[in-house]
Amino acid sequence: MYLGLDLGTSGLRAMLVDGSGAPVVAAERAFATQHPRSGWSEQDPAQWTDALQATAAELRASHPAEWGAVKGIGVSGHMHGATLVDAAGAVIRPCILWNDTRSHAEAAALDATPGVRELSGNIVFPGFTAPKLLWVETHEPEAFARVDKVLLPAAYVNFWLTGEAVADMSDSAGTSWLDVGARDWSDALLEAGHMTKAQMPRLVEGSEVAGTLSARAAEVLGLPQSVVVVGGAGDNAAAACGVGAMREGQAFVSLGTSGVLCAARDGFSPLAESAVHTFCHAVPGRWYQMGVILSATDSLNWLARMTGQSAAQLSGLLPATIEGPASVRFLPYLSGERTPHNDAAIRGAFTGLGQSDGPAQLTQAVMEGVAFALGDCHEALKATGAQIDRALAIGGGTASRFWLETIATVLDLPLDLPQAGEFGAALGAARLAICGVTGAAPEEVMTPPAVRDVVAPRADLRDAYAAAWDKHRASYAAIRAVQ
Ligand code: XUL
Repeated sequence: MYLGLDLGTSGLRAMLVDGSGAPVVAAERAFATQHPRSGWSEQDPAQWTDALQATAAELRASHPAEWGAVKGIGVSGHMHGATLVDAAGAVIRPCILWNDTRSHAEAAALDATPGVRELSGNIVFPGFTAPKLLWVETHEPEAFARVDKVLLPAAYVNFWLTGEAVADMSDSAGTSWLDVGARDWSDALLEAGHMTKAQMPRLVEGSEVAGTLSARAAEVLGLPQSVVVVGGAGDNAAAACGVGAMREGQAFVSLGTSGVLCAARDGFSPLAESAVHTFCHAVPGRWYQMGVILSATDSLNWLARMTGQSAAQLSGLLPATIEGPASVRFLPYLSGERTPHNDAAIRGAFTGLGQSDGPAQLTQAVMEGVAFALGDCHEALKATGAQIDRALAIGGGTASRFWLETIATVLDLPLDLPQAGEFGAALGAARLAICGVTGAAPEEVMTPPAVRDVVAPRADLRDAYAAAWDKHRASYAAIRAVQ
């Protein structure tokens, strides 16, 4: 048995997976995010370890035999968060999360520092880790002076499990301190971020053994100390392991709170200025690239709040198949945007509203706006040399056939829909543990799920959507000018 832990922004999911990679049972605990000031987003790491202990106790009670057979643990975490730990291993302040924008000025300054984009392979986005530490240095100097280690959320869970500060490459790639091509901490990047190598966790590949359980963790979890903990992964790399996106050409589109178009890459081919994220994969010698949009289902959820209807009710207003783009357009930049604009200040907009437009038209416009934003990500990915012929579609938004057909047509790609089941970050994390414990080759373990259906692009409507997409792009520039 293997335990995959998916530490998400809204909760932790713990899943037992058997030796053949088949999910057995899962437990979840939700937790909140604190927003003490506008733009701030924090969690107390004790929320994560409380959820870990609660889910572990639940699985142990409901499946004692399987729990007792656990050989390895893999952790997936939300990326970029800064958990500051002092020399005694105590947490210094709440973790500053990936969607916290307080350090946008520090990010811009770091991003403009010569050599930073080249070494890290990425723009220093406001949510990344390095600018957060520059902010702490200025605004909380006593806290900064106490920092013995900076741990990403998954690495903090590794630390709680093993007592060792150890992180995987895929998550570390999102710090702006890692030389992403060389898969090692960069002295130059650390110096630019006013940090030292001694403050960084030891690096391992996600599928490599990171350590074994500490005596304390073993006792709390009711597991032997011999249980192996692997490096784990950032959530998108773990999801890629869960859906089997490992080799060049394998891709997935994720329609969650944020939206991601992610492609596995055999080599390191960054193109920072495209605002594509280029990160190490969670297995040796591979990388992945993704375009990230900040509000995907979040845009539909926002419209649901505004109209007093649920997202499912709004989706139900639309037919199952598309008939051409709406005359209303929506820019889905409710929280700013990463790819392709790298624009934390931009906000959303509806344009082209008419008297006859109601919730159905607005819903269609929201779905199209997200599809065009994902289309922009696809163009940015193509510019890096990534070639995608089809993509697996995952996430809550895939419940809408209308939305999927819109995205397939804008991206001009067939979208594969997996059979119902588990293929997310928790499965990916458990698969990393299988590799670490058994030494199995990642490509044998990380296979794609069975496909139940394919949503084909509508060739007859391609030109109509391309024309609407051109207007979407033009409206970004126009709205930018008046905000
Ligand atoms: C990736 C990113 C998010 C977080 C939260 O760059 O910021 O995907 O990992 O899920």
